Amino acid sequence: MSDTASHSHKQLPFGLTRFLSWVSLILILVSNISLAFFISNSARNTLLQRQQQYALLIASNLNQQIFRRFTLPTFLAFGRIALRQSMQYQQLDEVVQSTILGLHLESLRIYGADRVVNYSIDQTELGLTDIMPNSANKVMESSIPYFETLSSLDLLSAMFNLELPPRSFSLRTLFPLTVDLGVTNETGQHESLVTGVLEITQDVTEDYATIVRFQWLLLGTCLGSSTILFALLQFFILKAERMLMERMVRTQKLEAELHQNEKLASMGRVIASIAHEIRNPLGIIRSSSELLLRRMGSDAQASSKEAGNRKILSAIYDESCRLSQIVTDFLDYARPRMPRQDTVDMNALLSQALGFLEGEMHRVGVEYVRHTPPELLVRGDKDLLYRAIYNIIVNAYQAIGHDGVIRIRGRILDEGMVEIAFHDSGPGFPPEAMQRLLDPFFTTKDNGTGLGLPIVNTIISSHGGRLELTNPEGGGAQVVILLPVASNENISNTQEAARDPNEGIPA
Ligand SMILES: Nc1ncnc2c1ncn2[C@@H]1O[C@H](COP(=O)(O)OP(=O)(O)O)[C@@H](O)[C@H]1O
Ligand SMILES: [Mg+2]
Repeated sequence: MSDTASHSHKQLPFGLTRFLSWVSLILILVSNISLAFFISNSARNTLLQRQQQYALLIASNLNQQIFRRFTLPTFLAFGRIALRQSMQYQQLDEVVQSTILGLHLESLRIYGADRVVNYSIDQTELGLTDIMPNSANKVMESSIPYFETLSSLDLLSAMFNLELPPRSFSLRTLFPLTVDLGVTNETGQHESLVTGVLEITQDVTEDYATIVRFQWLLLGTCLGSSTILFALLQFFILKAERMLMERMVRTQKLEAELHQNEKLASMGRVIASIAHEIRNPLGIIRSSSELLLRRMGSDAQASSKEAGNRKILSAIYDESCRLSQIVTDFLDYARPRMPRQDTVDMNALLSQALGFLEGEMHRVGVEYVRHTPPELLVRGDKDLLYRAIYNIIVNAYQAIGHDGVIRIRGRILDEGMVEIAFHDSGPGFPPEAMQRLLDPFFTTKDNGTGLGLPIVNTIISSHGGRLELTNPEGGGAQVVILLPVASNENISNTQEAARDPNEGIPA
């Protein structure tokens, strides 16, 4: 995967979740704020309705009181209403003041039909003609009460003004002053005559301040809950992102490993087929040189020229042997095969391998001591197990160099495993290389292939067994193999003659 491809691969889902989280923040905010707006608006409307009802109550009560206690008696006594007469004015003032006692009205005026202020609790306004609001005309004509909210501030600046000065908001009520004519019309209502307009103004600043405080509280709550919701969302998205990221990295690593393995495997197949092709001509070179060497004999009277030829021939023989070993090892490693599931007598296999290597071991002064029970049967593949044992013993006497001993001990464990330990008197495994002993091509020998132990490991694992490499207390190296035990039915024929391990390898 190229760099840019993997980059876009990473960016795509996370960009989307980011986008979604921001969209959700906006949605939450918008819905919360509109909810706050809706609630505070309906609260304000309810309050306004209450105030209007209250004002209406005051106004209609005043209307009644004025009619009964002033208009009617005055008319009866004097025949006409003339407020310019101070006696009548005082009479009206008394009625009004007793009615609105304790109601805290900002102003109260009565306009006559001619727009003149006929009565006001502020006496300086009496007789003025230019302060009647235009809406009063409509009330006069329609005889329907009219409400207006007067404010010295607009709503927005009122929002940010926590200490509202008194009279910032007032409710003005215009109420038709009527005279009951005492007759009922066709619809069954009392017919009345509009004689003027009653105007009362109340200071409702306190109520507005309450609403403003309520709005702030609501807004604060909404913003707070939005923030919490958003933070929670972000937290979960982040967590999901991290999880996704980890999973992606893991997948990418696995993919890369798989790719590498595939590459190695195909390379291995190519090399293995080349090695296989090399093996046959190599066998011919080796056996021909061996034959020639035998023909020459070890003639003592041989000329110096013949001795030189002999030297060259034995070099050819030695090197072809070594090459043959390398090719064999490599093929064993590169083309592992599924082990057969026969019952194999490990005793017979040990005798076979030791028998084959005895000559070489004797030459370098290495002996072996063997303690194995007579019955040592495992389930597996005779050829592969022979190769494993062979590699272990070769390593042991190569490590010893000369003069030493290999102790071989076998036993059957309770866990259903056969354990065979090879303990040599050599220098032990190089401690710094303990971790790399099973790596293919790791070797400390000049002409080693580094494939012996990896082959052993592959064979033992493919049998469902275990390989343990240690340097025990007393010195030397110890190789322990554990293989699943088998019952002694149908023992495969392991008694055939010891063979050259370079032959009969699985191809
Ligand atoms: N019995 C042993 N004692 C000490 N070192 C050993 C022994 N067996 C293996 N080794 C070490 O492990 C290395 C790898 O062994 P191996 O895989 O058989 O490859 P090779 O024998 O070709 O070097 C050897 O080079 C040697 O350093
Ligand atoms: Mg080896």
